[in-house]
Amino acid sequence: MVRALYPGSFDPVTNGHLDVLKRASSLFDEVLVAVAQNDSKSALFSTEERIRLIQQSTQDLPNIRITSFQGLLVDFARKQDARAIIRGLRAISDFEYEFQMALMNRSLEPKLETLFLMPSEEYTYLSSRLVKEVSRLGGDISRFVPHCVVAALKERNAQTGLTP
Ligand code: PNS
Repeated sequence: MVRALYPGSFDPVTNGHLDVLKRASSLFDEVLVAVAQNDSKSALFSTEERIRLIQQSTQDLPNIRITSFQGLLVDFARKQDARAIIRGLRAISDFEYEFQMALMNRSLEPKLETLFLMPSEEYTYLSSRLVKEVSRLGGDISRFVPHCVVAALKERNAQTGLTP
């Protein structure tokens, strides 16, 4: 059983994340999606909400599990007996941050490999941050995120009263 970890903020999950997740699920016996409980980033959705949105968007994928983690990613990977960390790489602009993280994680845990998977070209410019902004300003995001996320963003925007 070779397990990979797909960590991230997923605030919220996008079609780009799902594209990477599908590619990873075809390569590993199990992919564990690990939602970071990140205190330093102010998330729009709670950890539980982010997990639920991923669950609702991945019902067709049999070999994935979704959970959350706190603390160092390498510690969590060790506890879960994961062999690899999956990260999506969209453009050159992602490279420096990802390179730093991958090498730091490798120096902390040499047995853990980071694998970069490129999403389909149509998602190379997609990010959770932009999706949230476009949605908040009334733009159509239905091409970029699953239906459940469109609905969740609409509801959250109405609650926060930030929509123009
Ligand atoms: O989706 P994101 O925000 O780019 O994901 C970043 C994430 C959660 C993978 C990264 O911040 C992380 O691994 N956080 C856990 C804390 C940790 O291990 N930090 C050292 C990374 S070298």
